[in-house]
Amino acid sequence: MPTKLNLAGPHGQIYADPTPSTDEDAFQVNNTSAAYYNSPYYLANKNLVQPIPPPRPGSPASIDLADYLPADLMAAINAAGSITFHSTGDTGAAKVSARQNAATALAEEAAVADAMAAAVQAGGARGPAFFFHLGDVVYNFGEAQYYYDQFYEPFREYDRPIFAIPGNHDGMVFGASSTAPQVPTLAAFLANFCAAAPGPSPEAPSIARSVMTQPGVYFTLDAPFVSIIGLYSNVMDSGGGIISSQGGMYPISDVQLAFLTSELTRLKPQRQAGQRAIVIAVHHPPLSCDAKTGGSGGLMQDIDACCKSAGLWPDLLLSGHAHLYQRFTRTVNGRQAPYIVCGSGGFAATAPMGGVPPAGTVVGDHKLEVAPIVQFGYLTLTTDGKTLTASFNSAPCNAPVKQLDSVTVDLVKGVLTAGGSAPAPGPAPKPTPKPVPKPTPKPVPKPTPKPVRKPTPKPKPPAPKPTKGGGKKRPR
Ligand SMILES: [Fe+2]
Repeated sequence: MPTKLNLAGPHGQIYADPTPSTDEDAFQVNNTSAAYYNSPYYLANKNLVQPIPPPRPGSPASIDLADYLPADLMAAINAAGSITFHSTGDTGAAKVSARQNAATALAEEAAVADAMAAAVQAGGARGPAFFFHLGDVVYNFGEAQYYYDQFYEPFREYDRPIFAIPGNHDGMVFGASSTAPQVPTLAAFLANFCAAAPGPSPEAPSIARSVMTQPGVYFTLDAPFVSIIGLYSNVMDSGGGIISSQGGMYPISDVQLAFLTSELTRLKPQRQAGQRAIVIAVHHPPLSCDAKTGGSGGLMQDIDACCKSAGLWPDLLLSGHAHLYQRFTRTVNGRQAPYIVCGSGGFAATAPMGGVPPAGTVVGDHKLEVAPIVQFGYLTLTTDGKTLTASFNSAPCNAPVKQLDSVTVDLVKGVLTAGGSAPAPGPAPKPTPKPVPKPTPKPVPKPTPKPVRKPTPKPKPPAPKPTKGGGKKRPR
């Protein structure tokens, strides 16, 4: 089947531009939001979780890919007996440092987005069916005015639906008052990914792509042969991910725990029948050997408790947040599953701080399989419900796409059949941080301010902080 340009979804969705422009080399709206790191609201509340927006009233917990792809493409996937899709996180291009000006930021994101779009065009009906974004779509505070430059323009040629979970930057808020944000958390994310109906984005009316109609910031995507359960891990920048109150430690509800347990329970019969793989996607990584964005112990415990309760563990866990590629194998109840960090989508590739242990290092129930790859790129994943393969492709500027890592899991036996490494010989050299989940930061004993329902009159923002030489912040 030839590639279908300008795919039309079954509910009128449009994905690719009919006549895409060349890559932009300057921002339509210059990104000055680094200044908001110094705003009174952010300074006073940066260690507080933000409220989890409720799903749209009446919406289901899960959505079906058949409501986003035309029937002939769905039929082709089902006839082939397997599905391929894309995933990566942290794509937003923003000018954040002396190293990364507007042109380089845009070029680095464009290299990844253009490579993914080309893979869709080359693959046609058997190519990637969708892109599941792992969060941090827009830096630094998920502002609506940057959706054009950081999302719609770079992905204007990607002729497939793009689903997303929010990252910390999508949910972070700022404001002139220390008690209320200028804009409620996730307002722009909800407008662009969780709309009630498809249609043009209010942020990019000149781009054809329709807004998405996800039920909320946590949801399940059911596709042929795979279900992806997406979770929202809140707004901590250098701290860990938080999906629940963690026993009352954080002032948010435990609604995602009930959701995750319920979805795993729902999907368990299909998983046990070998009909689909189960993927959990969450922006902050439960496992990471980056010293700054190390794994999240509380997040891991929450997910594990839900899996234990449902009696079903994921075949794969995907995260972003750290701007590099890492792959661990975790063994639970004798079954191996990859835990992959792929925050390589285009924003500030960053080497681990403080070094890393060598590939093959085993700590507890998990093993670091490959040395972290500090390059921009994306994942291509394929599954038939019985095996699953995840490959990391680098997509540098002005150089060919190259596959740098791949893992295959036999989902029936629960073992890696390709991509495993031998344990590292001897102890890890010092001083290298071990990939042990870090405890999540202690909460500030202060209630979360209620979100403002309507934007307050726009206060005058602080003077933009010079990016050159002012590298105190390195956003994740
Ligand atoms: Fe992040």
